[in-house]
Amino acid sequence: MPWDELKPRRWPAFDKELEGISKQTMEDHFKLYEGYAKKANECRKILTEFDYSEIEGNQVYSPLRAVSVDYTFALLGFKNHDLYFGHLGGHGGADPEGRFAELLDDEYPGGIEMWKQAIRKGASAARGWVMTGYDLNDGSLFNYVMDTQNLWAVYNMVPVLALDVYEHAYARDFGATPDGRKQYVEAFFENLDWGHVNRQLAQAEAAREGAQRVGAEEKVPTA
Ligand SMILES: [Fe+2]
Repeated sequence: MPWDELKPRRWPAFDKELEGISKQTMEDHFKLYEGYAKKANECRKILTEFDYSEIEGNQVYSPLRAVSVDYTFALLGFKNHDLYFGHLGGHGGADPEGRFAELLDDEYPGGIEMWKQAIRKGASAARGWVMTGYDLNDGSLFNYVMDTQNLWAVYNMVPVLALDVYEHAYARDFGATPDGRKQYVEAFFENLDWGHVNRQLAQAEAAREGAQRVGAEEKVPTA
């Protein structure tokens, strides 16, 4: 199916009173999300309109190189925020629920509490994002620390939880300090919609099951 223009969505979180995260922060943050959609669309258009028989391929600088790299920053800026805003606005609570909790409990030797501590510490160690992603190859859930929208994610990892730790996400409400960031992470947990997280996971698990089924029918070994 052909690619279609990205459009930022007004997720329910924008109409709710969140714990600790102000409406102003959310509205300012929405503008960034809109900007990522706009620039991803712009880059994509440029990349489909280049004359590849004529265009310069140069690794030091070339328009092709610059737009290709910045496209991933814009596109993942959109995707990361789509998930972030999508799973805010829930009843939150201390611990994850459902299948997400079940898989984490199996994955981390210290269970849910260890996973949560790993997110907290990851949030202090990351420059941009901390994610929990489902691996389509092995079916595991694991945390990833990312320095920007597009750095250090791995292939076939489907993000199911995305915590934005750029200062724009918390400086207004909690202060641009390490302590402010820690308070924001707790507020993030309080505002999470675990149902949304579990729906992302259900989609990812269904995709893996579908790929395995097709692989078995075609007798092609799958990972
Ligand atoms: Fe952000």
